[in-house]
Amino acid sequence: MYTQSFSVQDDPAQKAVKQVGSTEPAELMAKFDACIDGDGRIEPQDWMPEAYRKTLVRQISQHAHSEIVGMLPEGNWISRAPSLKRKAILIAKVQDEGGHGLYLYSAAETLGTSREQMLDGLHSGKAKYSSIFNYPTLNWADVGVIGWLVDGAAIMNQIPLCRCSYGPYARAMVRVCKEESFHQRQGYEALLVMVRGSQAQKDMVQDAVNRYWWKCLAMFGPPDSDSPHSAQGMRWGIKRISNDDLRQKFVDATVPQARVLGVTLPDPDLAWNEERGHHDYGQIDWDEFWATVNGNGPCNKERLATRVKAHEDGQWVRDAAMAYARKQQQRSTKEAA
Ligand SMILES: [Fe+2]
Ligand SMILES: [Fe+2]
Repeated sequence: MYTQSFSVQDDPAQKAVKQVGSTEPAELMAKFDACIDGDGRIEPQDWMPEAYRKTLVRQISQHAHSEIVGMLPEGNWISRAPSLKRKAILIAKVQDEGGHGLYLYSAAETLGTSREQMLDGLHSGKAKYSSIFNYPTLNWADVGVIGWLVDGAAIMNQIPLCRCSYGPYARAMVRVCKEESFHQRQGYEALLVMVRGSQAQKDMVQDAVNRYWWKCLAMFGPPDSDSPHSAQGMRWGIKRISNDDLRQKFVDATVPQARVLGVTLPDPDLAWNEERGHHDYGQIDWDEFWATVNGNGPCNKERLATRVKAHEDGQWVRDAAMAYARKQQQRSTKEAA
């Protein structure tokens, strides 16, 4: 999901990614530019400008962090899912998100960054992840709304990434998008069941939509006018569609789905604009978005503490896997000798 990364620096104390300068070798630069202009793919072994590499490391690692932190708000409901069927679906979805994180960390590693470096950035609070996961999941309808709206927004963001100029990222996105599509449908289907239930169930769905709608619109990142890195990302074929255009596509796709559910999207300014051929919508609270991105959302501290604890608790698994790999290697060396 998660194109907000283009506009969000990991650590404000770190220097911004430098733009391509005249220090890059002209011949290699020309070859790189020709590949990008021809809509080709850059692969790990190809030469690339340092700023392109750094931008991708930041975007892919922030994306990976978002996938694994994104397991936490829904993980909260696995033990309390209302039926065995819903529990099995939710476990599968949360496990998919863990898998997405793994593909993406692997894609980022091809750019010369280690898994330890990336996880250290996340656990020390220097690296960002999607702001949406810093909000609580208060009732069961939140799980449905996350599938419908959060995974729905993720799909909008990620489909264009299947055509990203960096090969390993683009290829990882193809499978991720197929799974995200299942996530979106399971969420929507769970909500359809709830809105056909009791008044209390309908109220829960509306309450969850009220709390999540604006935060989902903010997931697409700051307005284009306030998104200085977007133009370079577009030039490099990393970003294909602007934040505002993606947000508009999401609003236009979601309004009819809300109508089918019979829920009201909490925006009095939301209206079809005949002239533009799109829906108009109200003002997003960017102060709240930035406060959450910068660590002051309702669950930032809790999410980070849970993630760090999970990593520490899993140390023995990593140690055991490494010991096993060493043993296997020793055995194959002995057999070869
Ligand atoms: Fe995902
Ligand atoms: Fe998902």
